[in-house]
Amino acid sequence: MAGVALVGVQWGDEGKGKITDLLASQFDYVVRFQGGNNAGHTVIHEGTKLQLHLVPSGIMYPDVVPVIGNGCVIDPKVLIGEMEMLGAQDISTERLLISTNAHLIMPYHRDLDGAFERRLGANEIGTTRRGIGPAYQDKASRMGLRMQDLFDRSIFKEKVAAALVETNDILDKVYGLPTYTVEQIADEYLGYAEVIKPHIAEVSSVLNQALASGKNVFFEGAQGTLLDIDHGTYPFVTSSSPTAGGACTGTGVGPTRIDRVLGIAKAYITRVGSGPFPTELFDEDGDTIIRVGHEFGTTTGRQRRAGWYDAVITAYAVGINGLTDLAITKLDILSEFPTIKICTAYEDARGDRYTTVPGHQSAFHHARPIYEEMPGWQEDITHCRTFEDLPEAARNYIDRLEELAGVPVSMIAVGPDREQTIVRRTLL
Ligand code: GDP
Ligand code: IMO
Ligand code: MG
Repeated sequence: MAGVALVGVQWGDEGKGKITDLLASQFDYVVRFQGGNNAGHTVIHEGTKLQLHLVPSGIMYPDVVPVIGNGCVIDPKVLIGEMEMLGAQDISTERLLISTNAHLIMPYHRDLDGAFERRLGANEIGTTRRGIGPAYQDKASRMGLRMQDLFDRSIFKEKVAAALVETNDILDKVYGLPTYTVEQIADEYLGYAEVIKPHIAEVSSVLNQALASGKNVFFEGAQGTLLDIDHGTYPFVTSSSPTAGGACTGTGVGPTRIDRVLGIAKAYITRVGSGPFPTELFDEDGDTIIRVGHEFGTTTGRQRRAGWYDAVITAYAVGINGLTDLAITKLDILSEFPTIKICTAYEDARGDRYTTVPGHQSAFHHARPIYEEMPGWQEDITHCRTFEDLPEAARNYIDRLEELAGVPVSMIAVGPDREQTIVRRTLL
């Protein structure tokens, strides 16, 4: 048996969907453990392109059981829409399991996400406005509704009534927004119950039994290490734990069951939304990355911010997640550049150097990247399937990233398709 967790190293969109899809066939279960439909994971194989927000990226394989863990927040309308989208492409979601303890995103969570952002004005976080933050807020304040509540009409209505006492006041009196009635929400949400019921499971028991009987379980993180509520660039973060520890709390599987932790990092960095980003580019190089890398959000369509690879951040992610392996994605996008930069340290306004993530947000905000430069290769690498196929300059770049991270680069992606991947070290 083996448990393998996959996490984003940077600020999300590192290519987690692609790598999950590539590895999924070796696993019996592929499990999302946090986040909700703020995630947008792209899976491409033989001309079929899927953009998944909630359903795990192992869905293409009929023998894999896809699971949504308790740590996720679920907008039932979005989930059902995604299941229908997959069904229309003859991809079955019949075996999908959903944790009875996962929290529901309610209509007022979406309203409040927008209202909080408008209130912040210029200081907005740049959330996906999918209601993620307010849903986790209600979970932490013990006002949330869970999947299991959908199956008992009176409990559901009782809990919605309790939540609305305060929420309606906030909607109306603080933000001047329309309020909700219990009936209105019950009519909509209880209508979803029938579709969802066959998928509900006590996920921790399912996964622990599976692991005990020798099955392989893959934990698919969403977002990235620097969007983690605890370890990210707070307050410019998401409201869950996308780091490896979240795989345990978000599924009910203990840390001793996770054998390997694979971090996914782009060969450069992007970020959507606000917050510090030391290597961000505002010049032609940034424009090139965005244009060639098609750096537009999968969920919101927003243009991503782009910058050079930051080895300080990767080293931080190696520690936080206990990474055993790295996958470097989108190496093909760097084929454009005669010279490639790697950030190896930061300098603050006083000239003090940091080789680890600064302990104070102000220092991170003002961090100036210190670069080392490497020659580019400027040739097409999308056909490369082994490390030896890569041009020498590309191999040197990967070797340097590996050296700076202190963990092996086990995979390199050179294109969006499943096949466009170099596997140097297997996970099982
Ligand atoms: P995720 O959220 O981490 O799953 O990543 P997204 O799907 O949001 O964004 C990654 C984008 O890059 C998607 O459009 C992928 O199809 C694409 N992609 C992934 N790996 C590669 C790669 O190695 N090369 C290229 N050119 N595109 C890639
Ligand atoms: P995947 O899984 C990139 C960002 C938002 C915003 C911040 C908080 O595709 O990598 P939220 O809606 O979560 O409250 O927004 O987090 N964000 C992501 N950025 N990829 C994601 O997911 C993201 N999910 C949230 O842009 O800055
Ligand atoms: Mg994404």
